[in-house]
This record gives sequence, structure tokens and C-alpha cells, in this order.
Amino acid sequence: MKVSVVSPANIAFIKYWGRADHQIFLPRNNNISMTMSGCATTTTVETGNFSSDDVQVKFFEKEYTVLEKDSIKAKNIFDQIERIRDLAKSSQRVRIKSENNFPADAGIASSASSFSALTAALLLAFGLNEKFEDKVELSRQVRLCGSGSAIRSVYGGFVEFLTGHDHETSYAVQIADENYWDLVDLVAVVDPEKKKISSSECHQLADTSPYFETRIKEMQPRIDIVRQAILDRDFRKLGPEIERDSNSLHIVMMTQIPAAFYWAPGTISIMKSIMDWREDDDLQAYFTIDAGANVHVICEKKDAVEVKKRLQNNEYVKWIIENKPCAGTHIISEHLF
Ligand code: DP6
Repeated sequence: MKVSVVSPANIAFIKYWGRADHQIFLPRNNNISMTMSGCATTTTVETGNFSSDDVQVKFFEKEYTVLEKDSIKAKNIFDQIERIRDLAKSSQRVRIKSENNFPADAGIASSASSFSALTAALLLAFGLNEKFEDKVELSRQVRLCGSGSAIRSVYGGFVEFLTGHDHETSYAVQIADENYWDLVDLVAVVDPEKKKISSSECHQLADTSPYFETRIKEMQPRIDIVRQAILDRDFRKLGPEIERDSNSLHIVMMTQIPAAFYWAPGTISIMKSIMDWREDDDLQAYFTIDAGANVHVICEKKDAVEVKKRLQNNEYVKWIIENKPCAGTHIISEHLF
């Protein structure tokens, strides 16, 4: 049996940081995101009577390499294969190829697209089709692979990952589909290199920041405001909350022990410019940053050309990835091998 799927990355407007449960990966706070049309992972899984599992990955502008169990991420991938094989009561082995069309591990949510693609393709290849078709169940299955952001890539458009309190109650729902609102995410790439500290490791340290509990408290009203602003397509309401959430997240990261400081000079340069453009010209663009130096600049489609032009003039910007909301994880008929 051979199956291929494509899954998009997503950008969080309300960030996921810190877990209530590290075994089944329950987040401490509800988080909200938009899927990204320009950043996707394609994964092909084949099941058969092979002598062992073989996983090959191809990162942006690199060649295929065999995945070794040498990192938390790789271990999570092999654990997910084992778990889904058990779920299907199968003894078959897998051959997997997976490719990203954007830089991995640079704060562009590469694990979101890769873990959602992997989980979906495994479920289908092992014949667990009903768990793929029921998107709530698919999101639960994705959660068990350990990448929180991946859960939100299951649906297109605007998505909320609900914390819940156990496996059944922690899953993602769609707020609005990909055609609801034509927002744009311009990713200003200032540093395409792999980040030094992975989010997976960092989630465990959130509690060491004295500001973590404060963030959890102060963000609660923001979650409702962001959900409602999406439903109302109210950008002037949404934008400031996106920025506040990103700043709040980074204060926690920077005050963890040890500190996780992801910003580079280019990150700060872009943040300051965006604030100036709003103040001087009322250009409605807002920044948000994940666990990396690259800056996601969110604006409405009508302003995207102007925002992009200005970003291109920033000396630190190497290139820009343009995204609009797109469909979530889906099957494709062309295989990678
Ligand atoms: C800062 O649990 O998805 O991007 O799998 O390593 O990316 P990785 O970690 P994950 O945490 C995401 C952290 C974040 C915020 C977010 O996307 O919500």
C-alpha cells in the first residue's frame, strides 16, 4: 500500500508554549493559527514486508538523507510509526520519503507540516482511513507525535487547538476555512539556518520562567478576541493582539532557565520598521515570531504589495516567502517514489 499526502505549515496568532502534560502533549493554552500556502511538506509512505523501517528526508535545497534516531524529533517520528503500526495491529514495515519546500527548523513551523503529513500518510497506509477522515480524530493522532503546531495543520484556514484535559478532549477545530479571509503572511527570512534550541525541548522549560504563569493568565481574553476578530474579519482588532502574543511568548522564552533567545539583528530591525510604518503611514502590518529569527509579517491582501516592497529594502532580508490561507492536510495522487 502506497499513499502520499501534502500538509501545510501554519503560523500561530496565539502561540502554543508550555505543556500541561508531557506524555500526551496537552498544551497549557488554547492556540490559534492560519495555514500557509507557500510552505508545505509532501510525504509518501509505503507499507510492505520490508526487513526494517526506512525513513528518508529531504530538506529545502538539500539532498535526501536517511533519518537516524539522533534527535528528539527523529525519535518522535520513529515512535509515531511504531504507535500507528500497533494501532493497526500490523507487523508491516514502512518506506517513507518526505520533502519540505521551505527551510526547516528556522521558526517557519517545519515540524507542523512534516508531522501532520507523516501522521496522515501513516494512518492511510496502515488502512486506518476513518481516523484520517474524521479531522478531530486526525488532530488527536497528530498530537501524539509531540509537535503541537502540527495539530493545527489538519484543517485549512484558521484553526484553534483546544487544550482539553485528556486525550479525548484535546484536539483542533476549524474557526473559518481558507476562503474566509484573504490575509497574507510574508515570511521575511533573515536566517535560514537550523535553530540551536528546538521548541520541543523548550516547552519543558516554560515553567522555569517567572513570567509563564502571568502569560497564561493575561492571554486568556486575547484568545477570545483573536477568534472573534477572525470571524468578524476585523484586522485592526486582530493585528495588535497577534503582536502582543508574540511579545508575551518571547518574554517567557528569554526568561527561561536556560534562556532561549531566538532574535537576530534582522529580527529587531524588521519589528521596529513595522511599528514605524504603522505610526507614520498607517500601513497595517503586524509581526509575529516563532522559535526562530525569521519574522512573519501579517497584513491584508490589499497592503501586501507595499509591505513586501518595504521588506525587500531591509538589508537583513534574504528572501520573502509569501503565504495566504490554504487547505489543510490532504491526499495527492503523485508519489515521491
Ligand atoms: C513557538 O510543539 O509545534 O511555534 O514541533 O518543535 O515546532 P515544534 O514545537 P511545537 O511548538 C510550537 C511553538 C511555536 C508556537 C506555535 O506554533 O504555536
